[in-house]
Amino acid sequence: MKPTIVVTGVSSGIGYDAVRYLSQNGYFVFGSVRSSATAAELENKFPDNFRALIFDVLDRASIDEASEVVAEHLGSERLRALVNNAGIAEGGPLQLLDDDRFSRQLEVGVVGTRNVTNAFLPLLGACPKAMEPRRGPPGKIINITSISGILNTPMNGAYCVAKHAVESLGEVYRRELLQYGIDVISIQPGPIESLLWDKNIGSLNEYAESEYADMCRNTDEIMREASADALPAEVVSRLLDRIIRARWPRRAYIVHRNRWSVALFAKVLPARLVDRLLWRRLSRAPIKKGS
Ligand SMILES: NC(=O)c1ccc[n+]([C@@H]2O[C@H](COP(=O)([O-])OP(=O)(O)OC[C@H]3O[C@@H](n4cnc5c(N)ncnc54)[C@H](OP(=O)(O)O)[C@@H]3O)[C@@H](O)[C@H]2O)c1
Repeated sequence: MKPTIVVTGVSSGIGYDAVRYLSQNGYFVFGSVRSSATAAELENKFPDNFRALIFDVLDRASIDEASEVVAEHLGSERLRALVNNAGIAEGGPLQLLDDDRFSRQLEVGVVGTRNVTNAFLPLLGACPKAMEPRRGPPGKIINITSISGILNTPMNGAYCVAKHAVESLGEVYRRELLQYGIDVISIQPGPIESLLWDKNIGSLNEYAESEYADMCRNTDEIMREASADALPAEVVSRLLDRIIRARWPRRAYIVHRNRWSVALFAKVLPARLVDRLLWRRLSRAPIKKGS
């Protein structure tokens, strides 16, 4: 039997490419979408080694149903990997971002990731000792977080908060799941070709009349440049394959054209210096005294 994996959010972008690449490279892939029309379209496009699951990451009942479908396929085997990829990105200054959109970002990103993880954990190998253990190596959980999970940037606050929380979630799961041998790994991408950009470029226009107008305009410009220079999604798909096969994968992987400068900003430079460098990049106004 081919190693089986579950990937969430496969209608477009990173998830879609993961289905394309991994179903053609030795895996059976279950991919989640939110409508039966998309499910049919994808099953038509990938007739071999792919099956669609239909759920929203906030709908516990349909996630449970999906995990039963996967359990039936697996028989007594273990699920090799769960890739938590589904996500949204709500931009805007924290002071002005609509409350519901802020909450939605956290719910889809954080609560959704936990919902899906908990539903598939027994199939990955986390089940009571009294139960007959599944066959095969313990599964891996791979969370698609973001460089926004390690570096906080203005006008992107809700997304940064959610991605930092998913980094924590993953770290805690990894430490709790040592007893089962289930590993948890983060992929932290920078710009990758996907629909996420089309969904967000221009979305900061609604703050054009606010005190944050300059920062929003400059952030929008940076997003346009970043999307034009984005890496192909296959870079992530290949990394997923490498992580799933690896005996000792790293805990986290930054995927970015210039990952050392991301690491420098996120992990090495003093935070107050980063404050100023980001301020200078996003706003031409002088820094207020006392800050
Ligand atoms: N592209 C980048 O540059 C980049 C960089 C860093 C991190 N990431 C992360 O990579 C992941 C994939 O994003 P992408 O760039 O491939 O964007 P995308 O093309 O917009 O794909 C997002 C996927 O998530 C699904 N989704 C959204 N809300 C959902 C929900 N409530 N329940 C279930 N599925 C839901 C979408 O399904 P629908 O079609 O039904 O909405 C879609 O399939 C995200 O977690 C994102 O934060 C992306």
